Order: sequence, then C-alpha cells, then structure tokens
Amino acid sequence: MRTQVAIVGAGPSGMLLSHLLEREGVESVVLEARSEDYVASRVRAGVLESSSVDLLRQVGLGDRLDGEGLHHSGILLHWPGERHRIDFVDLVGRGVWVYGQTEVQKDLVAARRAAGQRVEYEVSETSIHDVHTDRPFVSFVDAGGVPRRLEADVVVGCDGSHGPCRTAITDRGAWERTYPFAWLGVLADVAPSTGELIYAWHPDGFALHSMRSESVSRFYLQVEPDEDLAAWSDNRIWESLAARLGDEPGGWRLSTGAIREKSILPMRSHVAAPLRQGRLFLAGDAGHVVPPTGAKGLNLAIADVALLAPALSAMLRDGDSSLADTYSERALRRVWRCTQFSWWMTMMLHRHGDDFDAELQISQLRWVTTSRAGAQGLAENYAGLPLEL
Ligand code: APR
Ligand code: PHB
Repeated sequence: MRTQVAIVGAGPSGMLLSHLLEREGVESVVLEARSEDYVASRVRAGVLESSSVDLLRQVGLGDRLDGEGLHHSGILLHWPGERHRIDFVDLVGRGVWVYGQTEVQKDLVAARRAAGQRVEYEVSETSIHDVHTDRPFVSFVDAGGVPRRLEADVVVGCDGSHGPCRTAITDRGAWERTYPFAWLGVLADVAPSTGELIYAWHPDGFALHSMRSESVSRFYLQVEPDEDLAAWSDNRIWESLAARLGDEPGGWRLSTGAIREKSILPMRSHVAAPLRQGRLFLAGDAGHVVPPTGAKGLNLAIADVALLAPALSAMLRDGDSSLADTYSERALRRVWRCTQFSWWMTMMLHRHGDDFDAELQISQLRWVTTSRAGAQGLAENYAGLPLEL
C-alpha cells in the first residue's frame, strides 16, 4: 500500500489529523491496533477548551458538540467549609465545553467513514522503518494475519503513550514526573449534583465532580498508586465522594446512582522531545502525557494536529518544509505550558507531603479564589491559551 501520510493510531490525534489532512488535499491511511468498537468506547476525559471547540466547528465537526456539549463558564474550587467559583468568562472572556472524548471520537469516526477514509483496525507488530529517507514505511500484520507494508512520504505517530513511534525516535530526550497517587474514576447514572465541575481539596485526598450529560456524572477520587479496585465498594465510593466534596446536612448534597464503570488511572507527566526525527512526527499522547487534573490531554492532542496538518500539507503539496521544520519547537511550547499548568493544579489539589504542604495548598487556594490576578492565571490556562504560543 502507498499513501502520502501513514498515521499510526486511530485515537483523537490520528483521526483528527486524517480529517484535517484531507481538507488540505493530502491523503492518509490510519493503522490501529485495537478494534473500532474498543477505540470508540474507551472512557476518557471530557473538557474541551474554546480553541479546540473553534477548530472542531471550523472543520465541520461541531454539530453534535453544539447540540449535546455543555458550555461551562467556570469551575468550583472546594475545601472543607469553603466553596468558590472561578468565572472564566468574566476573568478571561472564554469558557470551556464539557463533551466526552468518547463523543469526539464518535464524531471523528463518522466523518472519516463518510469521507471513505482508509482505517485498518486490529493491526499488530507495527514497526516504523527508514525515517531518514524520503520513503519511510510501516510494516504490520493486518486483522487477517497477513504481513503488510504501508509506504508513505511521512509517518505520524499518533499511537498514544505506549505505542512504538515514540521509541522509534532514537535521539530523543525524555522528561518525566510520576506522582505519588492515582485517580479512581467512576461513571455513574445520576444527574450531576452541580452545574459546574467541582475540584475539591480534602485531608483524605482530592475529589472531582464532573459530568457527561444531564443524566450521567463522572467522578474521580485520589487513591494510592497501587490501589486495589476491589477495595472500593460502591458504598465506599459514594461515602468518600460525599465527604470530600462537602456533602452536608442542610447544605449542598451529592446525589448518588448506579455506578456503571470504575477504573484506576495512573498520574504522570511525560514529555518526549523532539517530536520529529527525519520523516517521523509525533502528535498527542505519543509525544506527551499530562496528569488529568488540568483537563489538557485531549486539547493538547487537538492543538498538535492543528499545527501538524498545515505543516505536512505545505511540505508534501508545495515542497515548503519550513512549518514542518519548526513543528516540534512550536508544539512543545504549548506542551510545556500545559505540562506546567497540569502539574501546578495537581500539586495544589492532591494530598501529599505533610501538614506544612497542606497549609501551603490551602493558602494557594485562598489566593487563587480571592485575588483576581490569581484567579486569572488559573482561568487563562484552564480555558486554554492560543493554539500557537
Ligand atoms: N499500532 C497501531 N496503533 C496503536 C499501536 C500500534 N502499535 N499502539 C497504540 N496504538 C493506538 C491505540 O490503540 C490508540 O487507539 O494508538 C491510539 C492512541 O490513541 P490515544 O491513546 O487516545 O492518544 P491520542 O489520540 O494522542 O489522544 C490523546 O487520549 O489519553 C488521552 O488524555 C489523552 O485525551 C488525550 C487523548
Ligand atoms: C472528566 O470529565 O473526565 C474530567 C474533567 C476534568 C478534569 C479531568 C477529567 O480535570
């Protein structure tokens, strides 16, 4: 098989890149290790920055998002006895949308299918070759067990944090932080008990109340990195959420419902640089992973491919490689901004260290919720900075 751009991975990065490339008149083939159903049903994060929403709308992917996405103009920060609203629209003039990554993925799959996009699902033994030549190729075994070869002008690794593309970049640096806690994620059939997301600091650990729709809520609890999921009965989950989120007799109450899914998510920061070697480029989780506290993972993936698509189109269509040559540097500026913001939100809100750390956290929360300058910094980063910094 031969194409212009071989894309490894059919998550949001890979599918959006193929969509953007087609609009630029560049052809691609996507290779994906898992099945279409598996990729479409993974439960992931759910907050879109306004620049992500603008881009999705501009490229014809905004219809369901406009109908079903929930616009939020701020978030709530909570700690025992106190709850404060950070109003993004007031502070920086833009809000965010709550719309699950699962939904973004469905929209992408539908659009790519309508366009006749070639996606090979359930491939194995994916391997990248000859990235230092102008005829790189990807070898793989297809769903029927047949060894195949996809030749291309460029290969893009959109294969997430465990895929083979990152490791194919041999002269790469890696910057990493592993956090001493994890998240227990819970999806429940219950109407959200709040209009805005609640990020809560608590002596027992962080909690987050998020949502997916008017009848489905998403929650997270800080747990140990090696936490045993079996130790978390539905009862224990609801009691911990209620305590950490500030459920009080006569005050705010947390509604409970049927728990549909629960899982443990590790928390780490990872940046690989550069995001390019020869004719192999990285985008999305393949190049960087952030802890979910700042809700940046999906937005960073969207921002990467928004820079990469025009760069590849200029290179392959017009023979101008100047944008491709600066892609890694331009993308990494935003990656590091979001890495710092996600680290900062994580360290402010999760229990770690001792009582000294706890006092610093509460002081920081007070400052962010009472000083306009403090609140503005959080709002500007959370609602999202321009695609190119
Ligand atoms: N060959 C083909 N595909 C592969 C391989 C391989 N060897 N290894 C991994 N993949 C696929 C995975 O199965 C997955 O579907 O690459 C895809 C990567 O998708 P994501 O992990 O969703 O990464 P990305 O598209 O960059 O999206 C980033 O996902 O993890 C979240 O928080 C993150 O929201 C962000 C988003
Ligand atoms: C989610 O809804 O899954 C979500 C929301 C906000 C975050 C992380 C995850 O910071």
